[in-house]
Amino acid sequence: MKGIILSGGAGSRLFPLTLVASKQLQPVYDKPMVYYPLTTLIEGGIREICLISTPHDLPRFRQLLGDGSAWGLAIEYREQPRPEGIAQAFLIAESFIAGDAVTLILGDNVFYGGEGFARAFTEFQTGATIFGYHVHDPERYGVVEFDAQGRAISIQEKPKQPRSNYAVPGLYLYDPRVVGITRALRPSPRGELEITDVNVEYLRRGALRVHRLNRGFAWLDAGTSSSLHEASAYVQTIEKRQGIKIGCPEEAAFRRGFLSLPQLEALIERMPRCEYRDYLVNEVVAEARGEAKDRPA
Ligand code: G1P
Repeated sequence: MKGIILSGGAGSRLFPLTLVASKQLQPVYDKPMVYYPLTTLIEGGIREICLISTPHDLPRFRQLLGDGSAWGLAIEYREQPRPEGIAQAFLIAESFIAGDAVTLILGDNVFYGGEGFARAFTEFQTGATIFGYHVHDPERYGVVEFDAQGRAISIQEKPKQPRSNYAVPGLYLYDPRVVGITRALRPSPRGELEITDVNVEYLRRGALRVHRLNRGFAWLDAGTSSSLHEASAYVQTIEKRQGIKIGCPEEAAFRRGFLSLPQLEALIERMPRCEYRDYLVNEVVAEARGEAKDRPA
C-alpha cells in the first residue's frame, strides 16, 4: 500500500496566516499540521509516500520532510498547479502509484484515537474503504447515507439537505482501479475532480466499504482559523493530560519498526534541546529500554 498526502489549495480561509506559510505547515499546537496526516500513514504501516502541493509551496515541504529516510520512509513530491480537485491526486501521482493500492489523506485532517483505522488498513484487500464520522454540520462535507442494515446507499458532496449526519473524513483507501475511475470522471460544477464521485463509482460497482468511526474517536479538520485553534487546543489537552504526543512521526516510525533504536537515538541527537526531544528521550527511548513502563499503546 502506498500513501498520498494532498496538501494543495490556496488556504484562503486562513488568510493572512497563509502569507507566512501554507495551511498544512501551520502549527497545530506543537507541530506542523502535516506531521499529523504523515503520522497517520506511518501508523497504517505505509512507508512509500507522495506529497502533492502547489508549485509555490512544494519546496517548503521538501525542506521540512526531505526524502523521508530520517523516518525510514521514502517520500516523493509532485505538483498540483491548480486546485482542480482532490481526485486529481491519482492522475498526478499515477507513476508513483504504479499499479499498487493507495491511501489518500488530506494534509489538513487530524485523526486521533487508537483503534479507529487499524483494522481498516490491515483488512484492506480490494475495492475502496472510506469512513463515516458523526458530525453536527454534515453539509460542509461529503455525506454518506446508510440503510437499516447499516449498508452505505448514497454519498453526496456538501448537500444542502444532508440525508445523514455522517461526514466522510479525508482518508480513503483504494485498489489500483482508482486511477482509471478518476480518468473517466468529468469535473464538477465547481471545476474539480471530486473525491465523492470516485466513491460513488465504487459504491455503484458494489466495491465500497464504509467504516463508521466510534464516538471518542477524534477527527478534526484544521482549515479555518477557528478549527485550527480548536485542533491545537484538543491536541494540547490530550498531550498534557496523558503525557503522550499525537502526530509524532519519530515515535510512530519507531513503533512500526521503520526505525531501529540506534537510528531513533541518532535522529534525536540532531534535535535541539526542547520539549519535543525530551519527550522522545524520556518516554519513547526510555520505554524501549524498559525504563518507562506501561505507556498507552
Ligand atoms: C473535501 C471533500 C469532502 C470531505 C472533506 C473532508 O472537502 O470534498 O467530501 O468530506 O474534504 O475534509 P473540501 O476540502 O473540498 O471542503
